[in-house]
Amino acid sequence: MAPKQTTPLALECKNSDDAKSMSFLTDKKILLGITGSIAAYKVADWVRALRREGGQVTVVMTEAACRFISPLTMAALSGNPVHTGMFSAEAPETIPHISLARDHDLLVIAPASAQTIARLAHGLADNLLATIALASSGPILVCPAMNSVMFQHPATQANLATIKSYGYRVLEPACGEMACGEEGPGRLTEWENARQAILTTFAPQNLADEHVLITAGPTRESFDPVRFLSNPSTGKMGYALAATARQRGATVTLISGPTALAAPPGVRRIQVTSATEMQAQVTECFDAATIVVKAAAVSDYRPAEPQLHKVKKGQATLSLPLVANPDILKELGERRRKSANYPLLIGFAAESRNHLKEGARKLKEKNLDLIVVNDIGGTETGFGANTNRVTLLDRNGGQEEMPLLSKEETAHRIWDAVGRLRMDNR
Ligand code: CTP
Repeated sequence: MAPKQTTPLALECKNSDDAKSMSFLTDKKILLGITGSIAAYKVADWVRALRREGGQVTVVMTEAACRFISPLTMAALSGNPVHTGMFSAEAPETIPHISLARDHDLLVIAPASAQTIARLAHGLADNLLATIALASSGPILVCPAMNSVMFQHPATQANLATIKSYGYRVLEPACGEMACGEEGPGRLTEWENARQAILTTFAPQNLADEHVLITAGPTRESFDPVRFLSNPSTGKMGYALAATARQRGATVTLISGPTALAAPPGVRRIQVTSATEMQAQVTECFDAATIVVKAAAVSDYRPAEPQLHKVKKGQATLSLPLVANPDILKELGERRRKSANYPLLIGFAAESRNHLKEGARKLKEKNLDLIVVNDIGGTETGFGANTNRVTLLDRNGGQEEMPLLSKEETAHRIWDAVGRLRMDNR
């Protein structure tokens, strides 16, 4: 018999730098319901990740879940007592399913077994978790994980359709090899997908009617089959903009130069290599966009005559004639001068000196609505850093200096500024 309540060990996980790790999860109360699936062990890491971002996690486990992972583990990781029974021996005067149902911002059920999904669909209240779901009026996120035949069974599919009709959000399981050895859909979704869905619950939906086109990463300009000109951009800022725009409800197309990053969940990504390829894709996707953000570090020049075969050494010096690449953003700015109905244009200015002066010049010359002036110098703000410190300059003369923030938080501040610009233009 599983213990009714398990008290946490003293395991403190305080953020070392709150300013850098702020997110919409900060101080949010997440109730995590774990059910009987072999994937239960995976959500132990989810608890740590939620706490790292400032979330307060309380865990509820079904009896079957306790067979897969110990409540003691979840108590230690969450820093809170774990609830497993309908009645509390420690505080008999409280009714756990009602107090827990009231006191959270989001209920996440992960992994959600076929049995629990059936319970939810039929409104059963025969264990603590199902009863909390029934008594809860807040958002509920369900992450199924089970054998793929069970997942694809019409009964499970009908139950999933039913809980979606109640307004529960369901994250599709991933395909792949399962613990039982079979292949197919049924693996618990990856944390990144769950995180994106959780953040979407809390993010303002001010981009719900927007189609955002974002460019990110470096471009590569080939000199011969094994060499190219490029820059150290990793794409982190552009990808953070894409992920956060999606969290805020936008349809997002991301045109990306070569990076090591995975496409953010729910984002359409088009991969390109050179500036001219990027230009072609931006032109193609442009008409559908209502906001364009050019975060890519585009190479300004490319080799004039790329060589078909590897250039052999042998000469003491080598000159490499270059030709200018198109300035994609400037072209878009020119096009908008001729049309009233035009997307919002946002550029970046990567500067090592005279930041504001250069930013203001690019804002005007490229005919932008907003420019994000970026210091490429310091270790905390340059290429590849996880943090950034930017100043926003807008076409109405507004100037906003941001503190050092994570790139994700910086992206959210940029979307806040876009929201204000939209209001000004109405
Ligand atoms: N940009 C672009 N096409 C280029 C060069 C830049 O679309 N060929 C865009 C960038 O994506 C960015 C903005 O223009 O949004 C400014 O880029 P930046 O590299 O800061 O400045 P440049 O215009 O290239 O000018 P400079 O290199 O002289 O600073």
